[in-house]
Amino acid sequence: MTSASQYTIDTFIRDAEQAIASANGDRERVVNELKPLVERVVWDDALFDERFRAEPENGRPRYLYHSAPDGSLQVYVVEFAPGMPTPVHDHVTWGLIGVCGGEQRTARYTRTDDGSDHDRAALDLISDEVLTRGSVYPLLPPEDIHRIETVGDSPSYSLHVLGVDLGRQKRNIYDPETGAVTQVEGRGM
Ligand SMILES: [Fe+2]
Repeated sequence: MTSASQYTIDTFIRDAEQAIASANGDRERVVNELKPLVERVVWDDALFDERFRAEPENGRPRYLYHSAPDGSLQVYVVEFAPGMPTPVHDHVTWGLIGVCGGEQRTARYTRTDDGSDHDRAALDLISDEVLTRGSVYPLLPPEDIHRIETVGDSPSYSLHVLGVDLGRQKRNIYDPETGAVTQVEGRGM
C-alpha cells in the first residue's frame, strides 16, 4: 500500500544525487548517508511498477529506476528466482543493497589479501543470514563481495543502489573454497 506520506523512489533518487554531489568522492560518506534512506525506500510499493521493467540481465528480471548518463548512480530492483543462486561476486564500487521482497539468504565476504593477484583471492565470511524486506547492507570494497540465494518457492527482490554502471565494468566471481577468481561483465547479480 502506498500512502502520500511514504518515502518514494523518486525522492530517494534526488536525495542520492545530492548526497553524491556533496560527498566529493568520499564513498564511505555516501554509503553512510544513503543507508537510512534505502531502509525507508524499500517499503515503497512503486518499486514494482511494471512500467519500469527492463531487459533481464544474466537471466534475472529487473526494474530500472535510474541510470545516470555518466554512470555515477544506478538504481534498480533485481528479481532472484528460486533455484538460481548467484555466484560469490563483487561490484567493484560503493553501493547499497536493500531487500524489498521475499526471503534472501545473503552471504557477505571481505577480501583479506592485498588484491594484487587477479586470479586468486583470500576471503573471510562476514555474515550469512536470511534477509527480508527492510534489511539493507553496504558494499564498500574490499567488503563488497556477496552471494544471494532465494529461500522458499517465491522470488525475492532487492533494490540495488550502485555508484557505477556494471554494464560498463569488469568485476569478479570468487570460489571461496579454492580461492580462484574469474572476471565477468554485466549486471543482474
Ligand atoms: Fe551483487
